[in-house]
Amino acid sequence: MNQIPDYLYADVDNKTWLILGASRGIGLEFVRQLLARGDRIIATVREAYAAHASALWGQAGNDHGRCSMHICDILSEESITKFVAQIAMIPNLKIDYVVLNAGVLRYPNRSTEFSFDEFAFHLHTNAIGPIITAQKLLQTNIPIGLICFMSSDSGSQGNFREMEDGFAAYAASKAALNMAVRHMAAELKRKDDDTIILAMHPGEVATDMANINLTWVVEGIISPEVSVANMIKVIQSKGIQHSGTFWTWEDKPYVW
Ligand SMILES: NC(=O)c1ccc[n+]([C@@H]2O[C@H](COP(=O)([O-])OP(=O)(O)OC[C@H]3O[C@@H](n4cnc5c(N)ncnc54)[C@H](OP(=O)(O)O)[C@@H]3O)[C@@H](O)[C@H]2O)c1
Repeated sequence: MNQIPDYLYADVDNKTWLILGASRGIGLEFVRQLLARGDRIIATVREAYAAHASALWGQAGNDHGRCSMHICDILSEESITKFVAQIAMIPNLKIDYVVLNAGVLRYPNRSTEFSFDEFAFHLHTNAIGPIITAQKLLQTNIPIGLICFMSSDSGSQGNFREMEDGFAAYAASKAALNMAVRHMAAELKRKDDDTIILAMHPGEVATDMANINLTWVVEGIISPEVSVANMIKVIQSKGIQHSGTFWTWEDKPYVW
């Protein structure tokens, strides 16, 4: 599906980003802003020709060589493996920033009501898929500066959001992600691996995911533009001393 042959050699000053889950919402906005800055992007969608991937094709199609698109469905280990193997073949590739953004919220998902499959769906997409993707990327020879996992304030144990009725599977999946992220950072530190591992809360962002009728008032809703512009700065400001930490789009440390 890579229609742009001029590939992403890491031999000049621009940064290279991998944005996983770039078809719409926050992921698509990352691609838009990074292209505008002159950076290079490896972007993934899960279906090449789905209607909702067309915005990404539109964005990157106008650009020559700085955005390459791949398929990756994080619900499928085969798809993750194939994608990682594809980019591992790119000569001289170095990825400065990986943003594992893909996620789902199928509302409502209450502990007293959800099915086995519904709970598993959230866990697979929001926790297992991103962690396995990061693991497989780290197992390649591609130098990777930083991996940012898109988490959520809903997944915090220390700041439990009791009012979030209908968010049980989603919150539990982000809490599971957070714990595995912390372990990943600790494991890499023990191995003297310098890849920085972060979790991020993007804010309450007006995307398809947030387009639901909730029983509580969501305060401080921001646009994807504002969320992503801030997150890019937050991500780029972190060093190895921050590995294993959780941040908000406003650059505030968040409680796990
Ligand atoms: N919006 C918020 O207020 C908010 C708050 C806290 C955290 N977050 C987190 O931010 C991230 C992005 O959310 P968003 O608001 O941009 O949501 P969105 O508009 O619903 O977009 C979700 C993205 O994830 C992709 N995705 C879903 N399942 C996937 C799979 N199995 N494999 C690969 N990609 C998959 C979607 O691809 P398709 O187009 O193919 O479905 C889409 O690109 C999520 O992790 C979410 O939990 C959002």
